[in-house]
Amino acid sequence: MSAAETMLITGGQGFFGAWIARRLLRDGTRFVLLDLEPDDRILSQVLDPPQLERIQRLFADVADADRVVRAVEETGATHLIHLAGLQVPACRERPAAGARVNVIGALSVFDAARILRDRVRGVVYASSAAVAGPAGDYSGPIADDAVHRPRTLYGVFKQAAEGCARIYWQDHGVPSIGLRPLSVYGVGREIGITSGPTKAIRAAVLDEEYTIPFTGRTGFNFVDDVAGAFVECARRLEKGALALNLPGEKETVEEFIRAIEDEIPSSRGRLRCEGAAIPVAFDFREDGLAGLLGAVRHTPIREGIRRTAERFRELRGRGIIRRGAS
Ligand SMILES: NC(=O)c1ccc[n+]([C@@H]2O[C@H](COP(=O)([O-])OP(=O)(O)OC[C@H]3O[C@@H](n4cnc5c(N)ncnc54)[C@H](O)[C@@H]3O)[C@@H](O)[C@H]2O)c1
Repeated sequence: MSAAETMLITGGQGFFGAWIARRLLRDGTRFVLLDLEPDDRILSQVLDPPQLERIQRLFADVADADRVVRAVEETGATHLIHLAGLQVPACRERPAAGARVNVIGALSVFDAARILRDRVRGVVYASSAAVAGPAGDYSGPIADDAVHRPRTLYGVFKQAAEGCARIYWQDHGVPSIGLRPLSVYGVGREIGITSGPTKAIRAAVLDEEYTIPFTGRTGFNFVDDVAGAFVECARRLEKGALALNLPGEKETVEEFIRAIEDEIPSSRGRLRCEGAAIPVAFDFREDGLAGLLGAVRHTPIREGIRRTAERFRELRGRGIIRRGAS
């Protein structure tokens, strides 16, 4: 990416944003994080203090369309990475707030790209595998363009955002790529039902007990693979409105716990899972994204757990995470 290029990342202080920032710092791409108000809780786990000092930030509500346009102008952004969003429980508890961030927020971002089309190359945005219904809705691996009937308001809102992307390409020629990760894990994952697997790794490192609040099979995405996919997709924004599956490693929650126990044997017997499976299928095809990127990175679950545990140990050593504080 050339020095003249700048990525504006909405929801940039969150989990994905922190890992994308970590990558962009490493490869020297200019970027600005947009979020509601200063909050270093996740960034300080993912970035080291000197990296944190180098971050440029801007505070705004992504649902404020005029403010988003000004943010793009002020930062000289050429690429928009839209991550700001409320997750499944928040959308269930506060539907209008969920729609405001997840749907109106997405519209603000697409509209800023339309208004400043001469300088903005396009939008990469976080959709979700939750646009899909449960496994029983499908026969065989699920294609990118399968018809979906989501079972959560969150999934409905993400589906609406994908629809907005399609219309902004059709009517205004704004290129976009929406990515649909599944259960993403790694340091900094703190919100949402599928934050359970990460919390289990942290509990194991801190010698605590933890119960993951869902069971059954899902796709586990290691967050650094997801961050890489967002950055690489930004570099391939050209034409069309793509919405692409990013299914991760298919495994059961029970097996994920066994893998943690193998990495951290002292956690044996302290980690459990209970409850229903999440109402989202897990058998997605990935040929769309693989065709675009050439190859999709798949960190094996055991390696992802090892890298996550290593970072949590380091954070424990620095006093950033500690027992009883989760
Ligand atoms: N984490 C996952 O497993 C997962 C899976 C699939 C899709 N996604 C989607 O990816 C995106 C990023 O997920 P994450 O795990 O980083 O979430 P996160 O909750 O860690 O981060 C979201 C960020 O958005 C910010 N935000 C919320 N409302 C805002 C507003 N009105 N204006 C500006 N910023 C606002 C929050 O302050 C937060 O920093 C979300 O849209 C999420 O729905 C996440």
